[in-house]
Amino acid sequence: MDRFIIRGGRRLEGEITIGGAKNAGLKLMVAGLLTGERLILSNVPQIADIATMRDLLRQHGVAVENVDAEGRTLSIGGPIESVEAPYDIVSKMRASILVLGPLLARMHEARVSLPGGCAIGTRPVDMHLKGLETLGAQIRLENGYINASAPGGLVGDRVVLPFASVGATENLLMAATLAKGRTEIVNAAREPEIGDLVECLNRMGARISGSGTGTLVIDGVEALHGAEHAIMADRIECGTYACAAGITGGDLRLIGGRIGDLGAVIRTLEEAGVEVIAEENAIRVRRDGPLQGVDIMTEPYPGFPTDMQAQFMAMLSVAEGASMITETIFENRYMHVPELNRMGARINVHGSSAIIRGVPSLSGAPVMATDLRASFSLILAGLAAQGETVLSRIYHLDRGYEAVDRKLAAVGASIERVRE
Ligand code: EPZ
Repeated sequence: MDRFIIRGGRRLEGEITIGGAKNAGLKLMVAGLLTGERLILSNVPQIADIATMRDLLRQHGVAVENVDAEGRTLSIGGPIESVEAPYDIVSKMRASILVLGPLLARMHEARVSLPGGCAIGTRPVDMHLKGLETLGAQIRLENGYINASAPGGLVGDRVVLPFASVGATENLLMAATLAKGRTEIVNAAREPEIGDLVECLNRMGARISGSGTGTLVIDGVEALHGAEHAIMADRIECGTYACAAGITGGDLRLIGGRIGDLGAVIRTLEEAGVEVIAEENAIRVRRDGPLQGVDIMTEPYPGFPTDMQAQFMAMLSVAEGASMITETIFENRYMHVPELNRMGARINVHGSSAIIRGVPSLSGAPVMATDLRASFSLILAGLAAQGETVLSRIYHLDRGYEAVDRKLAAVGASIERVRE
């Protein structure tokens, strides 16, 4: 397994280009199941989860071809030959569950492995299943698989989500595009990635309104057609590198970053003493003075995103004063805490809250990645720590961040990938 070797204490300065959003791109690829025509996606990030999604779509019989040499533009489409999403792929990537709605909508049946839990939580899919049943699907769980059918197709209806689940919203949204009649999704998630999916689906001929509000209205159509769509910039990658500028007292221009997607993150950065300047097609992030402790509670968009929690925890571990972070979305998203404490951080977890008492500096140590965002929080700590940090199990990082060592080294970090 590969490792990163990071030598800390260097200010980061320069420009980092933000890539296409993982949490938009994966769903946009699944949208390709909704039509037999070609969906062309550009600005595709080169990360492991995208490759896994490509494998999943291909095993459904759908063509997924590189339009350019690197595969930054993909062409997706064609007849579906299999409606089964097997355990070995679904267990690798939970987002695979999102093929359920589109398969039901287009093929009127699906057999999708129940995704297991993952490091950060049990992550049930009850809201996905109940919502699809409301749209007329018959669902039977057997041998770890979801056996779903909708003879005659799905029928639009009003679905009220008990929680603004991103995945449940996306599954139901895609299913409803081909259902008969009107579907209303109430208490829908409002993350920008869903807005990107709505924009693409409407380009494919869907009739969706209410994007960005808590209620999505979808009037089903007979069929969707091909389209071209550029994946939005990854707001979490952008926020992550903003924390890199914050923790090293650096000055970074994040090219392609969109302030509008990061509302609560920007406000929290500024509260912590980090300056954020909106530019034409970039966000500039810099820090001169000391970092200040802040209190954070993760919430569905437009609240503070849970996917930025670990990164802020690393940055706040060297702030003046104390901070409190409360994680309200996932039940086990503090696995970076013991690793950060091994680097000299002073963090105590009490239930869903963590108290961070700022320390003057961290010290490098051998640490282990446990999940995607936790991996990067340890990189951030390593960038600020005195001495050398060796981060192992960086396959977690490769799932969702592209070329981290190249991007950080280009702005002055001492970081080296050691292949084993
Ligand atoms: C998406 O996961 C993201 N993943 C996550 O990003 C992100 O943290 C999360 O949304 C919240 O913003 C992708 O987009 C691929 P949810 P998702 O459904 O859709 C519970 C990353 O680091 N829940 O909003 O699974 C669930 O257990 C990843 O990029 C149910 O109980 O998130 C969780 O506690 C991590 N029943 C909460 O809701 C359901 O049927 C939020 O889940 C569905 C969800």
